[in-house]
Amino acid sequence: MEGKLKVDANYRKIYSRLLKCVICISTLLLLLILFRNQNLTSISLISRKNGSGASHSDQSSVIETMAAKLRESVTFLPLKDLRFSETAMIGNTWFMSSLNDSYEMNEAEYLYFPSEVSKGRLLCIRGRDMSDGTKNFYALAWRESLPNNATLLSGLTYVSNTYYNYLNLWHGLCAMTPFVRWTMKNKCIKPDRWVLFHWGELEIRTGSWIQQLMLANYGEFKFEGFDKGDGPYCFEKAVVMRHDLGSMGLDNKLKVYDMMRCKAREFCNLFVPERSMEVDERGLPVIRLTLLMRRGSRSFKNATLVTDIFSRECDRAEGCVLKVFQSEDLSFCDQVKVMTYTDVVASPHGAQLTNMFFMDRGSSVMEFFPKGWLEHAGVGQYAHHWMANQSGMKHQGAWCDSTGEDCPTPKDDRKCFLFHKDGKVGVNETYFAEWIRKVLHEVRVSKLEATKTPIAKEQLSNNVCAC
Ligand SMILES: *[C@@H]1O[C@H](CO)[C@@H](O)[C@H](O)[C@H]1NC(C)=O
Ligand SMILES: *[C@@H]1O[C@H](CO)[C@@H](O)[C@H](O)[C@H]1NC(C)=O
Ligand SMILES: *[C@@H]1O[C@H](CO)[C@@H](O)[C@H](O)[C@H]1NC(C)=O
Ligand SMILES: *[C@@H]1O[C@H](CO)[C@@H](O)[C@H](O)[C@H]1NC(C)=O
Ligand SMILES: *[C@@H]1O[C@H](CO)[C@@H](O)[C@H](O)[C@H]1NC(C)=O
Ligand SMILES: *[C@@H]1O[C@H](CO)[C@@H](O)[C@H](O)[C@H]1NC(C)=O
Repeated sequence: MEGKLKVDANYRKIYSRLLKCVICISTLLLLLILFRNQNLTSISLISRKNGSGASHSDQSSVIETMAAKLRESVTFLPLKDLRFSETAMIGNTWFMSSLNDSYEMNEAEYLYFPSEVSKGRLLCIRGRDMSDGTKNFYALAWRESLPNNATLLSGLTYVSNTYYNYLNLWHGLCAMTPFVRWTMKNKCIKPDRWVLFHWGELEIRTGSWIQQLMLANYGEFKFEGFDKGDGPYCFEKAVVMRHDLGSMGLDNKLKVYDMMRCKAREFCNLFVPERSMEVDERGLPVIRLTLLMRRGSRSFKNATLVTDIFSRECDRAEGCVLKVFQSEDLSFCDQVKVMTYTDVVASPHGAQLTNMFFMDRGSSVMEFFPKGWLEHAGVGQYAHHWMANQSGMKHQGAWCDSTGEDCPTPKDDRKCFLFHKDGKVGVNETYFAEWIRKVLHEVRVSKLEATKTPIAKEQLSNNVCAC
């Protein structure tokens, strides 16, 4: 602990010395530039009188020397700072740990370069290592004195670091959403490129679902691979996000999910009439119930039986239409389409539930867990509760299987979670039937209300994308 503190202190000392040095040199340079501009006329007069011109070239050579020194003094620090591995997601995180976030009320934390906070300096990254984030580096530099061999990448760059991953729908979405929000509140500006990091390691692709969602929002875009050599790359403008949704307020979360829903539907050519008003031939509100299945881990032990229960209850409820889908068999646009035409989605816990935000606001989610999740999964089990909350859906609760094998090490939560994590989901016929009945009833009541009252504003905006 003491050793770590000492290292910290030394590190800070070195850092502050370097900083002083940089500030010193840059002040000199500035003074020189000022001096040069103000005295240019008189110098040239003297030169002409003098007939040598030596004074002028002396000045320029001094400026060049200073710029070269400034270039040399750009300090690269490791992108991933192991001193903060215990608090990798807290405060300045372990990614670009020397830099403070900027805050705006109800927005995700971000870093922007160049800015007043960066004293006008650009962000530079020398970071192509894909397996060790400590071997990748970052630095700040003035545009006039970028480090040697630097490539200047023009336009706007989005730099993302995630602690989780870009393959999983839920985690990928959490990493990308703050950028979509940034786009929204900055006149729908589009980035020229994205740079993705995971623990400071460069990544050059996301899962295909995320890729499609970003295509829907941005049209063509590219992930930067820094493939013009090892030298540093400096960004004309860069936004860095390293906290997922972080301190984004609920209102802004709802807005950004509204936009992603709208963009996805547009991308998939779904121009949907007002769903809350949909009625059947008898004039009764239609309730679209979707059972979203998955294979392998966390699938239902007996999917036929579960389908039978849903089918029976749906038949009993007026206006109910049941559809059953195998999530793995659906393309991105199939998923968007299925959810667009869903009022109640029922599904085992899993990434496929991330699709819930493609439903109209106010739709319902029923979630099913295998044995052991309730006791050992920690807060992770609430991921889809959060997702429902922030995308404007109603999470109608979760059912957790209580039957099945017991964990052999009941005192060790982590081991028990791993033991149960990929289990399968059983069934309680009585409970399922009662639950479905209750949810369908609630949805029916609110649909009847909706047909009586004017259309809610946010529903109307479903077909008009913010960007
Ligand atoms: C000409 O300029 C040089 C360099 O600034 C200076 O040393 C020298 O005294 C000047 N000569 C005259 C005649 O002004
Ligand atoms: C970051 O914030 C801390 C605490 O507010 C402050 O002491 C420090 O100087 C800031 N660092 C930079 C690089 O702005
Ligand atoms: C810059 O690039 C040249 C040629 O690729 C190389 O020889 C040189 O060492 C590089 N300089 C730095 C400071 O990286
Ligand atoms: C699934 O449930 C049905 C209906 O209760 C039953 O007939 C069938 O045997 C069950 N299948 C399995 C694999 O348990
Ligand atoms: C979702 O939001 C409701 C209402 O704001 C709140 O009561 C509930 O605790 C939230 N649930 C979760 C899991 O955050
Ligand atoms: C099934 O659900 C019913 C109704 O909630 C409950 O009374 C019963 O104990 C449950 N059965 C099992 C085996 O958990």
